Amino acid sequence: MLVSAKEMLDKAKAGHYAVGQFNINNLEWTKAILLTAQELNSPVILGVSEGAGKYMTGYKTVAAMVKAMDEELGITVPVALHLDHGSYEGCYKCIEAGFTSIMFDGSHYAIDENVAKTKELVEAAHKNGMSIEAEVGSIGGEEDGVVGMGECADPNECKAIADLGVDMLAAGIGNIHGKYPANWAGLSFETLDSIQKLTGAMPLVLHGGTGIPADMIKKAIDLGVSKINVNTECQLSFADATRKYIEAGKDLEGKGFDPRKLLAPGTEAIKATVKEKMELFGSVGKA
Ligand code: 13P
Repeated sequence: MLVSAKEMLDKAKAGHYAVGQFNINNLEWTKAILLTAQELNSPVILGVSEGAGKYMTGYKTVAAMVKAMDEELGITVPVALHLDHGSYEGCYKCIEAGFTSIMFDGSHYAIDENVAKTKELVEAAHKNGMSIEAEVGSIGGEEDGVVGMGECADPNECKAIADLGVDMLAAGIGNIHGKYPANWAGLSFETLDSIQKLTGAMPLVLHGGTGIPADMIKKAIDLGVSKINVNTECQLSFADATRKYIEAGKDLEGKGFDPRKLLAPGTEAIKATVKEKMELFGSVGKA
């Protein structure tokens, strides 16, 4: 059932668990995530980055595929189709394409401009019954071979953005996208605690969910995180299972080269990763 992310996140915040956002890249990813959410009776958010949207030939294709698949698979748990790290233009495209949720990432703008653009997009999203996520304090990761350590957001800036009526707020607390470097200092719970105190009931979003140890995830949820984004970990699981299938020569046995067979182990591996995360985040049975 395609819905905005607002209600599922408000429930998660009140119930002290988190809803997983799993990024999609193609049909296999989408199917694996939807089936796992249904099996575990868990709400779920399908994240679409601008790059993945382009790869899938555009947001209209993505929205049409997700809507049809949700219906054909008989998915009854709440599912939000969400733009991940959207630009100003990307947000409008997704509003038009029929997404149910958007993220406007204005973290690279000066705070005044981030506030002005977020404010405008909050109105546009809500007018269309969609939820909106905003970001303060850029979330690092690997860019052109340089690995950033992850910034900590200014709690007062978080409050200014939260006060605009966004439905969820991503704030940097030392988290980064992709794999964490060996010398990573960990999440800054002090920053998270200050942000939570100033933003109250606002569901907070933890990006860069791949590779964060389980105890840190649990503590972050205790301190107000209600949405956790995972992308790289599903990609690694898929690649690993696919490599094993090919290295075992299974693509050369019978019709093992058929994409429905070749992509099956990777798809099952995505399901296993999503299940593990949903159990850790506490969203199982919460649909
Ligand atoms: P990872 O790729 O590190 O899991 O991060 C995902 C994410 O935050 C998407 O916005």
